Amino acid sequence: MRFLPVFLDLQAGPVLLIGAGELARAKLRLLAAAGARIRWYTTDGNHDVSGLEPADAARIELAQGDPLAADLSGVIAILCAGAGDIGTAMSARAKAVGLPVNVMDDLSHSTFIFPAIVDRGDVVVAIGTGGASPVVARRVRERIEAVLPARVGDLASFIGRWRKLIHNRIPEFTLRRRFWERVVDGPIGALVLAGRKDEAEAALKDISDPTAFAGGLASGRAEGKVTLVGAGPGDPDLLTIRALRALQDADVIFYDELVSPEILDRARRDASRVPVGRRVGKPGIGQHAINKLMVEAARSGQRVVRLKGGDPFVFGRGGEEVEALREAGVAYSVVPGITAGLGAAAQFEVPLTFRHEALRITFLTAHKAKDAQTVDWSTLTDEKMTVVVYMGMTAAPSVRAGLLAAGRSPQTPVGVFARVTRPDVQAAVGTLDELPALVEQIDGGPAILIIGDVVAHSAPWRQPNLNHVITQLLEAAE
Ligand SMILES: C[S@@+](CC[C@H](N)C(=O)[O-])C[C@H]1O[C@@H](n2cnc3c(N)ncnc32)[C@H](O)[C@@H]1O
Repeated sequence: MRFLPVFLDLQAGPVLLIGAGELARAKLRLLAAAGARIRWYTTDGNHDVSGLEPADAARIELAQGDPLAADLSGVIAILCAGAGDIGTAMSARAKAVGLPVNVMDDLSHSTFIFPAIVDRGDVVVAIGTGGASPVVARRVRERIEAVLPARVGDLASFIGRWRKLIHNRIPEFTLRRRFWERVVDGPIGALVLAGRKDEAEAALKDISDPTAFAGGLASGRAEGKVTLVGAGPGDPDLLTIRALRALQDADVIFYDELVSPEILDRARRDASRVPVGRRVGKPGIGQHAINKLMVEAARSGQRVVRLKGGDPFVFGRGGEEVEALREAGVAYSVVPGITAGLGAAAQFEVPLTFRHEALRITFLTAHKAKDAQTVDWSTLTDEKMTVVVYMGMTAAPSVRAGLLAAGRSPQTPVGVFARVTRPDVQAAVGTLDELPALVEQIDGGPAILIIGDVVAHSAPWRQPNLNHVITQLLEAAE
């Protein structure tokens, strides 16, 4: 990110505008409508401000003389629009005295740029593309315009009016934040958004115990809780809305190694992020230590998210964590995620069940499959059963041997699907007999194995030349 969005206080001083023609006039209109004081040096002698509201025009000072010799004291920013070569010289002057400067359509001489803006009163959304594409910014703005409630600005100003009073009544920061979240997300917020401000005011006045309303303890501290959140297989667009909300509300996030950085990016910016899973080549901190961390954080009043790849209750040790929280008397809830097997099935079009062909599914961990005693392979011989194997990469030879010994056909279709829903996804399809060789074709996990006739319906089986399929040993098998 080269340009950080910040908001300029237009009350702090005048903006110096240099330039002429429609470009300068467009910026004049923008600044004037935003309430700026403008000192305008025209470069073509035309100072026409017709078309502006009289109140806006009154804030424009028509400056004379050489703009390069302009007095910059008190000026908060310099803007050159349709100013020709003066823009370059003015940029050097601004930079020398540390003033933000924008030379229109000239990124190299600008230290700030104008975002596309969604303006809803006190709520202003700025959209930037680093100056690369105003058209993309405008398209994003249209989408935001479409989803943002019309009265969201009223909601912000409503809260602004009550802020000080509530600040005095709820001194503790976390609790106060929760108070406002309940107002915004609850019936009071809905009343403001519906234009029923008087009723909203009355409802807020009716709250006799703001601490209790915010879900606080009698001690005036916020009550903590833990949310186990399934992050899905990698693509952040596969997060559920509830997962996204939990991430946005979190004070602290304890996350596993399988959680992709793109998912962590969707969390509240000032939430602390603590990796607790195994790192490459290093063991994790252990389940007992993770439980302890969660309990301590929740007891200190924080909203804890325990973020796990896929679904917390599918080979995710979510069950153990919930038990530890229950024992500790900590409030918790669970948000499901898309498990890797379902992510692979959707991405590669493997229908896990199929009429007459696949009537059962088994989700199996091959974590300990190398020790043949730990898996009863005879339960997996039904030809009409799809077997989805987690943690099966290194155990692939044992999985193959176990299933073949139990009587599954060596020609049973199988797929190895690695890093599913991520940009570096890979797949290899073939037969059960070839399973270890297929795994060899994959550049590393995590990977899921799907075994069963349904794999023959998958996209890599049907279209072996697709880019995402790096391997197919079908031809060799035929
Ligand atoms: C400890 S288990 C966690 C499973 C997770 N709770 C879930 O529901 O997907 C780890 C295994 O999940 C599978 N896995 C997780 N993410 C994956 C992905 N993006 N692509 C393929 N397999 C994945 C792999 O088999 C990996 O070894």
